[in-house]
Amino acid sequence: MQTQTQTKIRKAVFPVAGMGTRFLPATKANPKEMLPIVDKPLIQYAVEDAIAAGITQMVFVTSSTKRAIEDHFDSNFEMETLLASKGKTDLLEIVRGVLPKGVTCAYVRQPEALGLGHAVLCAREVVGDEPFAVILADDLIDGADHGSCLRQMVEQYEGCGHSVLGVEHVPPEETHRYGIVKTDAPIGRSARLLGIVEKPAPSKAPSNLAVVGRYLLTPRIFELLATTERGAGGEIQLTDAIAKLLEEEPVLAYRFQGRRYDCGNKNGFLEATVEYGLKHPDVRDDFLVYLRRLCQPELF
Ligand code: UTP
Repeated sequence: MQTQTQTKIRKAVFPVAGMGTRFLPATKANPKEMLPIVDKPLIQYAVEDAIAAGITQMVFVTSSTKRAIEDHFDSNFEMETLLASKGKTDLLEIVRGVLPKGVTCAYVRQPEALGLGHAVLCAREVVGDEPFAVILADDLIDGADHGSCLRQMVEQYEGCGHSVLGVEHVPPEETHRYGIVKTDAPIGRSARLLGIVEKPAPSKAPSNLAVVGRYLLTPRIFELLATTERGAGGEIQLTDAIAKLLEEEPVLAYRFQGRRYDCGNKNGFLEATVEYGLKHPDVRDDFLVYLRRLCQPELF
């Protein structure tokens, strides 16, 4: 049985019910989260971040156009049989490795896109009374030598048992795109949250420290979300519920180590594609030659 004092984070919630309008028409019938960076969909990178943090139960909050996500994490008997019969064991391993053994998936529907806070609330029954992670797949985070971003955050959580928000500095003129936090003086990379506000104009922002798509939350957030009114953009905002949580419990902001790509917008998506392409063993050498030619045609 789980209790509020349980420290292990076992479950991750992936809100994937948004409309993805910034990628239309690609997202008219296909989930934004299935857009690939080189050869893996965004949602798989997000699940890998969770797995690296020791999480084994994935909870997807979906909507009607998101069937492909469920199919991606299911087995594909026909394809596996075909690859096995042709002796393509390396590809078979890739296909089977999408969901490692011991990792399970659950799907709940968000009936209407009422906002991120509402999407998280839809996962309440499946998560139950235990701390959990929230991962937004369109924030792709490469922890590089520092390891998974969520792993870094789980280490913080295990030290204190409080909710932890992944944050980074953004250009001051971009505060209107994020939840922005006010914190106490940091100790190392962590600081206690003093306030949080959704998408403030630069002139009203308490700082330029933005919450990105990684959260570790105590289950009290569900009760608070259930009574949260619609806020910015007419949506039920997770930020507003976190502001209430803050009045009851300490919440930490953690400045993770690694590079974040905002793949919810086209430029961030292209940057991630180029940088992951330059690291991918199958394509990097030829891709580098191509980029050099593109940037300095006079040398070729
Ligand atoms: P975004 O603000 O990026 O919205 O949501 P979006 O719909 O995905 O994309 P655009 O802005 O229309 O291009 C942040 C995260 O919250 C989820 C989204 O799927 C995304 O992962 N979300 C948002 C929901 O699950 N439900 C909602 O009602 C809203």
